[in-house]
Amino acid sequence: MKYSFIHCLAHCALQTYVTRTLPSTMTATPRSPFHGAAAMLCLLLAFSLATTIASSVSSAAEMFVNGSSCIAAERDALLSFKDGITSDPSRCSTRTGHVVKLDLGNNFYTDDIESNDNVVHWLRGQISSSLLCLHHARHLNLSGNALGGNMTIPKFIGSLKSLTHLDLSNMDFSGRVPPQLGNLTRLEYLDICSDYQFYAYTYSSDVSWLARLHSLVRLDMSGVDLSAAVNWVHSVNTLPNLSLLELTSCGLNSSSPSLLHRNLTILETLGLCDNPFNSPAAPNWYWDITSLKSLSIFNCGLSGPFPDELGNLTLLETLYMASNNMEGMIPSTLKNLCSLEKISLHHNNIGGDIKDLIERLPNCSSDNLQILYLFDSNITGTLKSVLNLTSLSILSIEDNYLSGFVPVEIGTLRNLRSLLIGNNSLSGVISEAHFSGLTKLDQIDLCYNYLQVIVDMDWEPPFNLTGAYLASCHLGAQVPNWLRGQSSVSYLDMSDAGLGGRIPDWFWITFSSAHHLDLSYNQFHGELPLSLEFMSVQELFLQSNNFTGSVPQLPISVVLLDISNNFFNGQLPSNFGSPCLQVAVLFSNRITGIIPNSICRWTNLRFLDLSNNLLMRGLPDCGKEEQKQQNPSSNNSSRVNSAKRSSVIFLSKQEIHTLLLRNNSLSGGFPLFLKQCQNLMFLDLTENIFSGELPAWISEHMPSLVMLRLRSNKFSGHIPIEIMSLSSLHILDLACNTFSGVIPQFLLPS
Ligand SMILES: *[C@@H]1O[C@H](CO)[C@@H](O)[C@H](O)[C@H]1NC(C)=O
Ligand SMILES: *[C@@H]1O[C@H](CO)[C@@H](O)[C@H](O)[C@H]1NC(C)=O
Ligand SMILES: *[C@@H]1O[C@H](CO)[C@@H](O)[C@H](O)[C@H]1NC(C)=O
Ligand SMILES: *[C@@H]1O[C@H](CO)[C@@H](O)[C@H](O)[C@H]1NC(C)=O
Ligand SMILES: *[C@@H]1O[C@H](CO)[C@@H](O)[C@H](O)[C@H]1NC(C)=O
Ligand SMILES: *[C@@H]1O[C@H](CO)[C@@H](O)[C@H](O)[C@H]1NC(C)=O
Ligand SMILES: *[C@@H]1O[C@H](CO)[C@@H](O)[C@H](O)[C@H]1NC(C)=O
Ligand SMILES: *[C@@H]1O[C@H](CO)[C@@H](O)[C@H](O)[C@H]1NC(C)=O
Ligand SMILES: *[C@@H]1O[C@H](CO)[C@@H](O)[C@H](O)[C@H]1NC(C)=O
Ligand SMILES: *[C@@H]1O[C@H](CO)[C@@H](O)[C@H](O)[C@H]1NC(C)=O
Repeated sequence: MKYSFIHCLAHCALQTYVTRTLPSTMTATPRSPFHGAAAMLCLLLAFSLATTIASSVSSAAEMFVNGSSCIAAERDALLSFKDGITSDPSRCSTRTGHVVKLDLGNNFYTDDIESNDNVVHWLRGQISSSLLCLHHARHLNLSGNALGGNMTIPKFIGSLKSLTHLDLSNMDFSGRVPPQLGNLTRLEYLDICSDYQFYAYTYSSDVSWLARLHSLVRLDMSGVDLSAAVNWVHSVNTLPNLSLLELTSCGLNSSSPSLLHRNLTILETLGLCDNPFNSPAAPNWYWDITSLKSLSIFNCGLSGPFPDELGNLTLLETLYMASNNMEGMIPSTLKNLCSLEKISLHHNNIGGDIKDLIERLPNCSSDNLQILYLFDSNITGTLKSVLNLTSLSILSIEDNYLSGFVPVEIGTLRNLRSLLIGNNSLSGVISEAHFSGLTKLDQIDLCYNYLQVIVDMDWEPPFNLTGAYLASCHLGAQVPNWLRGQSSVSYLDMSDAGLGGRIPDWFWITFSSAHHLDLSYNQFHGELPLSLEFMSVQELFLQSNNFTGSVPQLPISVVLLDISNNFFNGQLPSNFGSPCLQVAVLFSNRITGIIPNSICRWTNLRFLDLSNNLLMRGLPDCGKEEQKQQNPSSNNSSRVNSAKRSSVIFLSKQEIHTLLLRNNSLSGGFPLFLKQCQNLMFLDLTENIFSGELPAWISEHMPSLVMLRLRSNKFSGHIPIEIMSLSSLHILDLACNTFSGVIPQFLLPS
């Protein structure tokens, strides 16, 4: 198991999210919180614009495009409301009447990091140069709006000389950052960061223009490509008032060993994560910045030992230095950092005993340390020494080489929210007493150790978990009763835990809101509920048990389903699938009947494995019947059109790339269904009773085929020459059929 982390304090990268890669290679991404309230959008927009752009109300209204405009009457109502307001001191100066503040920033969020569709932009369009009329504006915030139009940041912004606060973050700008921004000599706050995962590429190959921004207090240029700006440290060092500097993911590949004249005397927050420095951690200019409270140098390719100079940063509260190539124990100078609250050093090769490590952590003030990330750091020793860290809230020390027992006193760490000790060599028994004081416990990871959890049948845990990673733990013979009240759980992994018996009915109710449920590789038997439609599960793993009965109706939320290697029987539900279903693994069961038509509808399906079942007949042809009417013998445009209409949902393209149907009793001709599977790469129809000739369209409709297995069927006729044009084909198995004619030349060894 691995975590990949975006863990910087970057003001820009708002989300801190964790991706856990499961042994099965399936991935779950806990969602970032939803900050928007779309329903309020129209009202807020109209109000904000109306109250802000005092004189150009009608042009403001024209900015609404793409169906996000307000209903005219309601917009007018808001504008009238605004007219009733005679003073608006926070936006217009009461003394001069000048507009001093334009704040249209939107609380940028993404619900799903993979899907651009979910990025909500409140305003779309472009920035009018009429902004130049706002000579007196001091505060301009357009962040999170799609007003950049993939163009460069307008140069004229550099003429708004009164600005002290400029926020153009997370907008869709591209190209060169105009050095004219250097004319904004009153700026105290400049934010042009953009999350490089979503936005086009902006760059600045020479940041000497920064030197004129003497008043700058906070600067965030994260995501702007500064790889050519070799002198960036010196430019930044000219800003004596700088308190925050964020340059995450800027492609920085150069730094400075030291600075002769250090002007950065009040810098508190320095964020340099995700830059390819690829150099030893020391010497480096920032080890001299003793005012630092937060230093983020995560994933920078830093190497060598942890520098002793760390101990000079005595005000440090947060140190993010994970995912580098650091080697060796942390220095004992770290003892000086009496304010340290959060440390993440994971994914480095610390290679020592946890006891030595903890002895080098500060213990001057009554333990401020709350967050300790040390997973995958080649650490040995026992958990006993952790007990000194009495304020600990997150202990993440998975994927190391800890051994021995989990001390019962762990239950005295009353602030513990995450106890993540999976994949070590811990052994022994964990009992109620271990959990006695852990009322705040939220995430527990005990996976892949040699641990037994032994508690009373009627034990009621003092906590409410959201994540329980219990794979391979010995939890008893059956689903543990103590889970019954844990309905906050979103992620539950009890795979390979030696569990058996039936799944109690309460299980499905308790975990009806969970997103990830894994009960695979146990000895569960009995039937599942006929329907799981009331659940919200997205990833359901029940493979390699002894489940019987029919495959249940699936919840519409399900994305990944694995119920392979069980004894499920009966037919698949006629609406088998779900709109989100991407991966369905059902091999090695006793499923009978036909492959239901519903699979035509679930066009997100990418992987379907129904091998080793008792399925009959052909695949649904997904509307191909109707499509036949388009053939020349019935050339009647009105009928064709109506046929197209009636079958429109069935004719949509399938995303599927892997279809495995080996060892069933499927029959009929080569499936017409495949005509819609333009992305298919792996097709296995081995050991069925398909018959007839192979169609010539195989190569045209499945151009990406890598594997085509048709062995042991009743296919006949000639092997179509068109197979030759399948340029990606690596595996072709046509054996044990009744093909005739000559073997095409291209199949013969040359
Ligand atoms: C367990 O940790 C070891 C050492 O860090 C790592 O190599 C291995 O991949 C981890 N195993 C799992 C299942 O994550
Ligand atoms: C920083 O620490 C190093 C090693 O601990 C020491 O040699 C150096 O003098 C310190 N520098 C400052 C400015 O305190
Ligand atoms: C782990 O640390 C030890 C030293 O304690 C070292 O000998 C070993 O090579 C390290 N393991 C890895 C995988 O780097
Ligand atoms: C701090 O650590 C030192 C040794 O590393 C130890 O002797 C001392 O007792 C500790 N102080 C507290 C308050 O834990
Ligand atoms: C834990 O604290 C005790 C006393 O407070 C001290 O003797 C011991 O050295 C500490 N252990 C570690 C690992 O810091
Ligand atoms: C756990 O959740 C239940 C029900 O929501 C609540 O009554 C209980 O107080 C919670 N317990 C803790 C320790 O938060
Ligand atoms: C599960 O099925 C396997 C294979 O049929 C069998 O050997 C085993 O005894 C079954 N286990 C239970 C608990 O029914
Ligand atoms: C074919 O599938 C049936 C039903 O699941 C199974 O019993 C049999 O072992 C499978 N045959 C092969 C060769 O895998
Ligand atoms: C079908 O109709 C179109 C337009 O009416 C005509 O151009 C075409 O030749 C017809 N095709 C056949 C095969 O009759
Ligand atoms: C074409 O379709 C229309 C409407 O379905 C029908 O009335 C007409 O008879 C058809 N003509 C032919 C030549 O099939």
